[in-house]
This record gives sequence, structure tokens and C-alpha cells, in this order.
Amino acid sequence: MSIVVTGATGHLGRLVVEGLLEKVPADQITAVVRDAGKAAGLADRGVRLHVADYNRPETLTGAFAAGDKVLLISGSEIGQRGPQHQAVIDAAKEAGVALLAYTSVLGGPAADFTLADEHKVTERAITDSGLPYVLLRNGWYNENYTENLAPVLEHGAVVGAAGEGRVASASRADYAAAAVAVLTGEGHEGKVYELSGDTAWSFAEYADVVAAQSGKKIVYRVVSTEEVRAILTGSGMPEPVAAILSDVEAAIERGRLAATPGDLSRLIGRPTTPIADSVAAALKG
Ligand SMILES: NC(=O)c1ccc[n+]([C@@H]2O[C@H](COP(=O)([O-])OP(=O)(O)OC[C@H]3O[C@@H](n4cnc5c(N)ncnc54)[C@H](OP(=O)(O)O)[C@@H]3O)[C@@H](O)[C@H]2O)c1
Repeated sequence: MSIVVTGATGHLGRLVVEGLLEKVPADQITAVVRDAGKAAGLADRGVRLHVADYNRPETLTGAFAAGDKVLLISGSEIGQRGPQHQAVIDAAKEAGVALLAYTSVLGGPAADFTLADEHKVTERAITDSGLPYVLLRNGWYNENYTENLAPVLEHGAVVGAAGEGRVASASRADYAAAAVAVLTGEGHEGKVYELSGDTAWSFAEYADVVAAQSGKKIVYRVVSTEEVRAILTGSGMPEPVAAILSDVEAAIERGRLAATPGDLSRLIGRPTTPIADSVAAALKG
């Protein structure tokens, strides 16, 4: 019996595995990765590796065993995730796992923006599978913003189309800690957690935080979703992905990522990480 984490070499997956290593012996953890080379450090520490690609369902054979607790970390290839996640769910069902946890999107079925579509499809596939499940409906990461500070500092502006909309973000480490709590705790079967930061901030407030910490003048410049799209494609992003991300900005303006139900801080037993702390960490490098 193992705790299995897919996407274990990703940003979130690495944090989850680190958190698990603090709580359970390494030989009870399996990291599902598509590139064993990226996971060499984990193997050295005694974590079991299974190499699989969501696009090749046959590679998932043997990834899971009866009684395992599995964390399916949603994939990063937007537009391909429906069948990819279905392949993982099928393999988990075939193996008879004890729990399938999934990193979904804040709001679940109520999330009315395109990026949420594949999460909604995956949630339905999980509930249809009949497997014991837990849905970790993750809100936005602080790092979505703080990993993109360079252009903000260069242009003296936070540019976006979210208007006065607010974001209840938390750090990736907070969401990872929630996953660890669920995977190592009891009584989470059938639960749906709406995970988000304790405080929702506006982009004008975010600009003020960056200004205060960097010592530079930073304004919030509101543009249209079309302009956001043009900026993103101009930086090399494929048009369909740029369209989906600019659509998220409109959803933020409608308040779709602002909910603060407190599930995340309750699960991790501490307050979530304020955006200002993540800005400070990012500025320190
Ligand atoms: N809540 C938010 O704000 C937010 C923001 C961005 C993304 N997300 C979602 O949350 C997930 C985790 O976030 P993250 O920051 O850890 O993203 P990430 O660093 O991009 O990690 C994605 C992980 O998925 C793995 N993966 C992608 N395609 C795969 C495939 N075909 N087969 C097997 N593995 C595959 C990647 O493998 P490699 O290590 O080999 O690349 C990586 O380990 C993302 O994938 C995305 O679905 C959420």
C-alpha cells in the first residue's frame, strides 16, 4: 500500500512529496513521473518511481495497487486533460485504489470559465467511476503572480483585465500541505474542499504591495481582455491558451476566484500564506 502522487516532478507535486516525506517512510510513497531523470533525487531518498505519460494509458499499468491513496495532480497540457485524466482514473479503478484525490478548480461546477471545463469533466469522471474520492478544488496560486514580477517591475505596472475583481490566492505550499493532510489523514472520502487563501486581494492592492516592497512606483493598469490576449500572444503564448487565460481575468472580475470559505486554513491548521509574503520571497530571489 502506497501513497501515490502523479505530476510529482511539477511545482506542486514536489512540494507534496516533500510534505509526505516528513510524515511517512519514503518506501510508502510512489512518484508517478514522465521523466525519471527529473526524479532522480526522489529515488535517491527511497521514493518509489513509476514512469508514465498520461497520453499513453498503457504506461499507467502498475502505477497503482489495491488500497493505495492516489493524488491525481491535474496535467498542464490545456485542451488534452480530459482524456489524460480519464486514463489515470481508469488505471486507478482497475487497480482498486482506496482513495483518489484530485486537484480541481475552485467552485467546481460553478466555475463558469473555459479553463475550468476540463476540471468539471474530470470531476464527473471521478464520481462516475465509483471510486472513493476527495476533490481538492484549488483556487489560484500566489505564484501565478509573484513568478511574473519582472515585467511588473520593468514597466512599473500590473496590467490586467480583472477590473476591481479580487483573488483569494494562497501559496503552492499551502495547497500542497492540504493534499498531504488529506493523503495522510482519515475521513476525507466523499469530501469536496473549496481551497483558497484566507484573504481576497484586488490588483490595485497587489500593485501597492509590490510598490511598497520594491520601492518602485507601480500602478494597476486595467485593459480589455482582448489587450491581455494580445500581450500574451505577443510574448509567444499560443492563441488558444492566451484566450483561455484572458477569459480567467474576466471571471476574476465576476468574483469567481474570490471565495474565502476557510477550507484551506482549516485543513492545514494554520493561516494561508498572504500574497505579500510570496512577493517578499520572490523579490529576495
Ligand atoms: N491553481 C492554480 O493557480 C494553478 C496554476 C497553474 C496550474 N494549475 C494546475 O495545477 C497543476 C499543478 O500545478 P504545478 O504548478 O505543479 O504545475 P506544473 O509544475 O506544470 O506541473 C504539472 C505536472 O504535470 C505533469 N504532466 C504534465 N503532462 C503530463 C503527461 N502527459 N503525463 C504525465 N505527467 C504530466 C508534469 O510533468 P513534468 O514534470 O515532466 O513536466 C508536471 O509534473 C497544473 O498541472 C495545472 O493543472 C493550477
